Amino acid sequence: LYTFCPHEGYYRVFHDLNGIPSSGDIHSGYSALRQTAPIVAESTPNRWLAVGYEAAAEIIKNGADFSGKVIVPDVFLAMGASLTHLGGQAHAELRRATQALFSPERLRRWEETVVRPAALELVERISRRGHADLVADLAALLPHVVLGKIMGFSEADMENARRWAVQILCASFDLDTALTASSELTRCLRALLAARRESPADDLASDVLGLEVGGRPITEEEQLAFLRMMTPAGFETTFRALANLFTGLLTHPEQLATLARDPTLVPQAVEEGLRWETSVLRTIRIAKRDVVVQGVPLPAGAWVSVNVAAANHDPEVYAEPERFDIFRPRRPHLAFGIGRRHCLGAALARMELRVALETVVEKLPGLRLDPLATPPVIGGHLFRSALRLPVLFDT
Ligand code: HEM
Repeated sequence: LYTFCPHEGYYRVFHDLNGIPSSGDIHSGYSALRQTAPIVAESTPNRWLAVGYEAAAEIIKNGADFSGKVIVPDVFLAMGASLTHLGGQAHAELRRATQALFSPERLRRWEETVVRPAALELVERISRRGHADLVADLAALLPHVVLGKIMGFSEADMENARRWAVQILCASFDLDTALTASSELTRCLRALLAARRESPADDLASDVLGLEVGGRPITEEEQLAFLRMMTPAGFETTFRALANLFTGLLTHPEQLATLARDPTLVPQAVEEGLRWETSVLRTIRIAKRDVVVQGVPLPAGAWVSVNVAAANHDPEVYAEPERFDIFRPRRPHLAFGIGRRHCLGAALARMELRVALETVVEKLPGLRLDPLATPPVIGGHLFRSALRLPVLFDT
């Protein structure tokens, strides 16, 4: 299950799950479903799939009728009670406390001290070569280095943490391995917290020590659960979003050329990359009571898989949604969700994507796909991305 690909530098598990290779094109299937209804019943009783933009946005935002406290028992056992497993006041209090760790001022500091130097170092390593694989050489490495530094991990711990995170995410397929990974990660985090109690540093492991949750000091279990969840949340998501952004630009070389001439276009390219092929396909909500959304009646207890990837391709909102177009009129996409549970790391992820793209267009002139390589394909069952991006550039 956890085949490590030394070339690609990360785990293939989400691409080849239990031996079932993932299909590249998911969007034509969602489009066919969307033509029948914005929310469709799945084959399992009381499971639903939201594929229309308005329906998805309404369900994600509507905390009165839908709960975002979704307990998948195996994942819960391995991950513990952190944000995604809490609801109501408990979620709101922990969310308020942890949101403060991602303040604009903090992000500016991370950009200058962690993200830009890391992006520069990775790009300079390849810049004299004239060729690279932008997944293995950059997308799979940058969020790894960044997360390790902002969490406070040593390099060796981060390498392990990345493997444990994937194993925890796969708890529904292999609970024993996930539970072992969870205890190893917890042991490592306990040691990190103990070290930071002795000698604080500029990292999240130090910051969580002083948090107040709902007017009381945070417990050690809450600190551990928060840091344990950050590991998969901050890595798998961002590295795949980076790979997909580069795929969009490299397969549309005229847009990449325009962007290289005018780097002020970088932020809108980042947003289009997130809309076009988001790395996280879905989020889940459970109906608290009988409710009607966009004309579709959902019974109390309905488990709704809100497919943000499909919502971001709704033609009612985005003309020719399959087209990657950094110049399309901007409408807020749902890649990070929306409302009170929207992605805690959205600003960090956006910044990493922006800085990586700025660095690449500045340092790798003439960047283009290697014409002799197989064209990139975006695929994946849980997270989506291209696996390889062989490129050439001028030296
Ligand atoms: C491009 C990269 C990323 C994408 C596409 C993404 C996507 C998402 C999505 C769709 C959700 C669910 C929102 C909902 O249910 O309404 C979410 C939640 C979350 N994300 Fe991200 N994410 C990314 C990066 C990150 C990073 C870098 C971090 C942390 C460093 C992070 C931490 C979280 C956390 C903690 C939550 C749970 C929030 C809550 O329940 O209150 N994510 N993310």
